[in-house]
Amino acid sequence: MTRFTFSTPNRARGIAVEVGRGVSQSVGAVARRVRPAARRAFVVTDTNVAPLHADEVAARLSAAGFATAVHPIPAGEPNKTPKTLVSVVRAMVRAGLSRRDLVVAVGGGVVGDVAGLAAALFMRGVVWIGVPTTLLAQVDASVGGKTAVDLPEGKNLLGAFWVPDHVLVDPDRLGTLPDEAWLCGRAEMVKHGLLFDPAHLADLRGLLGSPGERDFDRLAPLIARQVELKLSCIQPDLFESNPGRGGRALLNLGHTVGHAIETLSGHRMQHGRAVALGIVAAARVSERRGIAPPGFESRVRALLGDVGLPLGLDEALAAHGDRALREVLSSDKKRQDHTIPYIALRDFGRPEVLSLAPDEIVDLLRQGPPAR
Ligand code: GLY
Repeated sequence: MTRFTFSTPNRARGIAVEVGRGVSQSVGAVARRVRPAARRAFVVTDTNVAPLHADEVAARLSAAGFATAVHPIPAGEPNKTPKTLVSVVRAMVRAGLSRRDLVVAVGGGVVGDVAGLAAALFMRGVVWIGVPTTLLAQVDASVGGKTAVDLPEGKNLLGAFWVPDHVLVDPDRLGTLPDEAWLCGRAEMVKHGLLFDPAHLADLRGLLGSPGERDFDRLAPLIARQVELKLSCIQPDLFESNPGRGGRALLNLGHTVGHAIETLSGHRMQHGRAVALGIVAAARVSERRGIAPPGFESRVRALLGDVGLPLGLDEALAAHGDRALREVLSSDKKRQDHTIPYIALRDFGRPEVLSLAPDEIVDLLRQGPPAR
């Protein structure tokens, strides 16, 4: 088991993230340590995960002496809405939750986002802990306290930073994960490797997308390294306060164009697929702007192909007009006046923040892959 702790400006005790096979079995003891005087634990999950994991987690909490309620929200990103959020908070009231009690999120990124935001808002804030059950949530979404729901105007527009007191990252929870969800997790793992650690990227290349990927003894140390990379990025800049200078905003690599493609697809394209295409876009922009060496897009494509991620950026762009892409990029929530802080790469492990107007991004992408 690997244990990481990090601090936040407004919490007396450190935040703990434990990674290892079987760590989530100690959820009852962890919850008791985090909230010694609590009477109730409120488990937020989704309709897919409830029978697979959340009911068992709830039983462990009951065994630790908590009066436990399980609240499944409808599964899927389209349900990450204010309506779902309010339904969770109202269920907390009906369950008799008080400020000294705790919330436990059992599920993927959507569950963590909704549960964390409900915990931030209920009676002005209750403690929560996370038991992520998808690869994406284990390596990324469960770490660092970004919580939000979507609005019709855009993704994650209603949210808060509300850091879980403890996260139990247990690869054994991935045994039930569908193929598409593996792909989504891989995209974020490659993103962390590309940003921060070329040697780790080589390890990812050796495992992800191969049959060994589901060998949890081999996967667990890679997940632990992912958590470590993410924590060292966010610790100095938890609130992403200066995107123009990097910090936490670096984690948006692949997400500017990725989110745009996801939005233009009416969210029919899964987040991880869109992020993979967004990473290809970032490689192209980096090479076309001359900050990455010739052949960089090809190297990134080869990497993504090796781990089974999609490469069809040009097909996805062709499916939507330039104008639609420009409009979605213009409504990007990270936009500052007329430009977007765009995360590019000088090479593997060498990120760089560019300031680009939506027009420039579209023009660079439309030039196609650089000839070799
Ligand atoms: N997933 C990006 C972040 O946590 O900042």
